[in-house]
Amino acid sequence: MSEQKLNIILMGPPGAGKGTQSELIVSKFGIKHLSTGDMFREAISKQTPLGLEAKSYISKGLLVPDSVTINLVKDSLANDECANGYLLDGFPRTIVQADALDELTKKIQRPIFKVINIQADEKILIERIVSRRICPNCGASYNLKSKKPLVDGECDLCHSKLVQRADDTEASFKTRLDAYHQQTQPLIDYYQKKGLLVNVDGLQEIDKVFNDICKGLGR
Ligand code: AP5
Ligand code: MG
Repeated sequence: MSEQKLNIILMGPPGAGKGTQSELIVSKFGIKHLSTGDMFREAISKQTPLGLEAKSYISKGLLVPDSVTINLVKDSLANDECANGYLLDGFPRTIVQADALDELTKKIQRPIFKVINIQADEKILIERIVSRRICPNCGASYNLKSKKPLVDGECDLCHSKLVQRADDTEASFKTRLDAYHQQTQPLIDYYQKKGLLVNVDGLQEIDKVFNDICKGLGR
């Protein structure tokens, strides 16, 4: 029998390291990265109708409504780019989204292989969030403590000036964390019951977290 496709969900609280690990996973396994947060930020920067709607929620740290988010993922997941495997970063985030994903993956015959849950302590998360810097041009992500750019305030890849994400304030982080506890955390149990969940300790160094993810995927 051929090996099952790497159709993966990456979950975890804000700042757990989903984006960081996504980069490593997609570059090792050549699968398609789908980050709903990145899609929304791109729509916001292009000022599309979707961006204008999403901005009002994201800036407050609230989740974008399920119907909007599910529609966004639906088209992408059925796309040819996901035929060899996909990595969902930050989706699903509610039970309604998870049920919709379940139905969709059955319909398009791209079943979920594993759900990686990155666990991290809340005190560490806030530190990571306030010291994160991103490149507004190419999207590269840095951290003033754990992943410094070569030149202060400048992207290593395209030399643009680094900025802080608009929702990386302490106040917005608290709302994001509340949303995580109330709406997203129940998914841990949801996927545990389906036998898909793999817990990974996100407090380790970046390459050790990655190593544990690969082990959890059996690859
Ligand atoms: P999204 O962009 O998904 O944000 P998030 O879930 O809050 O998570 P982050 O991107 O902040 O953290 P991360 O886990 O990716 O960590 P990272 O690797 O960057 O969503 C943003 C918003 O969009 C939501 O609030 C919501 O409004 C909306 N949205 C998105 N999806 C939605 C959905 N499905 N439904 C409804 N609304 C949705 O790491 C953080 C920092 O820590 C970096 O600086 C990094 O360098 C550093 N770091 C990472 N790992 C380590 C490590 N092991 N050791 C030390 N430092 C580390
Ligand atoms: Mg992220």
